[in-house]
Amino acid sequence: MCGIVGYIGEKQAAPILLDGLARLEYRGYDSAGVAVYHDGKIEMVKASGRLSVVADMTDNGKSLKGTVGIGHTRWATHGSPTDVNAHPHFNEKESIVVVHNGIIENFQRLKSILMGYGYAFLSDTDTEVIAHLLDFYYKGNPLDAISKAMQRMEGSYALGIIFKEFPDNLFAVRKDSPLIVGKTSDGSILASDVPAILNYTRDVYYIENEEIVRMSASSMEFFNIDEKELIKEPVHINWDADAAEKGGYEFFMLKEINEQPKAVSDTFSPRIKNDIVDIEDLNLSDEEIRNINKLHVVACGSAWHTGMTAKYIYEGLAGIPVEVDLASEFRYRDPILPEGTLLIIISQSGETADSLAALRLAKKKGIKVLAIVNVVGSSIAREADIVFYTMAGPEIAVATTKAYSCQLIAHYLLAMKFAHVRGKISDVELKEMISAMRELPGKINTLIGEKERIQRFANRYLAAKDVFFMGRGIDYAISLEGSLKLKEISYIHSDAYAAGELKHGTISLIEDGSLVIAILTQKDLYAKTVSNIVEVKSRKAFVMVVTNESNKEAESVADYMVYIPETNKYFANSLAIIPLQLLAYYISLGKGLDVDKPRNLAKSVTVE
Ligand code: AGP
Repeated sequence: MCGIVGYIGEKQAAPILLDGLARLEYRGYDSAGVAVYHDGKIEMVKASGRLSVVADMTDNGKSLKGTVGIGHTRWATHGSPTDVNAHPHFNEKESIVVVHNGIIENFQRLKSILMGYGYAFLSDTDTEVIAHLLDFYYKGNPLDAISKAMQRMEGSYALGIIFKEFPDNLFAVRKDSPLIVGKTSDGSILASDVPAILNYTRDVYYIENEEIVRMSASSMEFFNIDEKELIKEPVHINWDADAAEKGGYEFFMLKEINEQPKAVSDTFSPRIKNDIVDIEDLNLSDEEIRNINKLHVVACGSAWHTGMTAKYIYEGLAGIPVEVDLASEFRYRDPILPEGTLLIIISQSGETADSLAALRLAKKKGIKVLAIVNVVGSSIAREADIVFYTMAGPEIAVATTKAYSCQLIAHYLLAMKFAHVRGKISDVELKEMISAMRELPGKINTLIGEKERIQRFANRYLAAKDVFFMGRGIDYAISLEGSLKLKEISYIHSDAYAAGELKHGTISLIEDGSLVIAILTQKDLYAKTVSNIVEVKSRKAFVMVVTNESNKEAESVADYMVYIPETNKYFANSLAIIPLQLLAYYISLGKGLDVDKPRNLAKSVTVE
């Protein structure tokens, strides 16, 4: 996820671009850049680090003359956050310049085709391919070049483009990445999101998929991919600037919960090709996969919970023994890591001190480390042997939601790949799993759509003192995450139990009205967990059950039912966690707490 802006008009462009980018920094902040046309030349300033670096380099934009320009704030996806990889990107002649938000999934193929025509690449980004592709198709008509390039690019993109030979125009185009444009009193402006343009206009045009915009200081024209002109109506925006940054949501956490269908899809889509799981770029050969004797999964907090889930999947699907460790425990013992162990470190931030220390310990012992990381170029990403990036984009709320969901997807894909290579699942079974995975974003969306019902339930428990979560197998792992979500943002004590363990102590805490949340997504364990529900019911607990649509066994013992759509049994966590995230969110909201910044917590725990 990145932020783009563009301006063409009567005023100096660069200060307007920097102002807009500052309001989009929540979309990415590892590098930034601007390009401005002036006096027959496109001038570009870009650098790694926060936007302030570019602001300092340009005296807040004042040193860049010119009234047409584009800008970018980056959240690295392809290529680490370096000066060279920062946007904008030029074609070789520096006559076409591009900023991009999104991912070009077929960029490797396009890159090798273009290299075959003699194009040289400076960066590791997918975006540079776009600049060269436009150059390849440009024969004097920018619209033609854009339309032709769009027909070749797969994936998602919102682009701002300047052609040196057409300095009175600024071009924009979109597919599956957000883009808005608007007319200001003195020109035209484009951006990824509303906050960037609220200071200049409140009437915006939402650009739809595969639409092209040609802007000038005084006009705005819209075209479809076949260059046919379109008529569009502006929409008036009433939000204040702060609400706009959160996309109109009161808190980032709810925004991020809502972003999960897209984040999940962005994580698996580039890795599924012709009905196989493609991890070619990870440099993990089939032979190496066949030689894995043990997986050792290490992480902290929610990331550790995805590891707990993954244990059942790697073992059940791929037949590989798995040990799951808390990084803070792993680093202070002498873990036995036999030959053939693959260590998997999971981290959203890539900077968690304990996880980083665990990685270093494993490497010291000569063990190969695969990291599942969200932040490109982070310490864990840099030091791991293999990096599987999740595509959650920047996560601002301390309580993780979308990064957690993307980590689950990463585990599913690895487990499917391992199982297939090791002959544990057939082509047909793999294909079925892939199609179940493709249905996850839609199903997550359906569950998010039921948020009002969860909010009504949450409002009944604002004064709760203790909440108990329970489940078996994967449902136990889901319980761990549901419980952490609740306690970290609502300050209600809660714990998660493997349902079979209740009678070994915890059940003494159950009293009249205690809220117990039971997770039942694993068919073969329904009956066992139902008998645990009966045990807590007979101590007068109030039981909420989260289960599959087809399970009617729990209805007679539960007080409150939440159904999730059917899916492959290994993917159940991706659905069951949604109502639990919403429950935690609405309890915290109902208590009037700062949902995004809970007390005593930090987003990235870089100290012990
Ligand atoms: C979860 O909501 C927490 N914010 C926390 O448990 C988090 O998952 C943990 O600190 C690990 O962080 P990481 O993924 O950045 O390594």
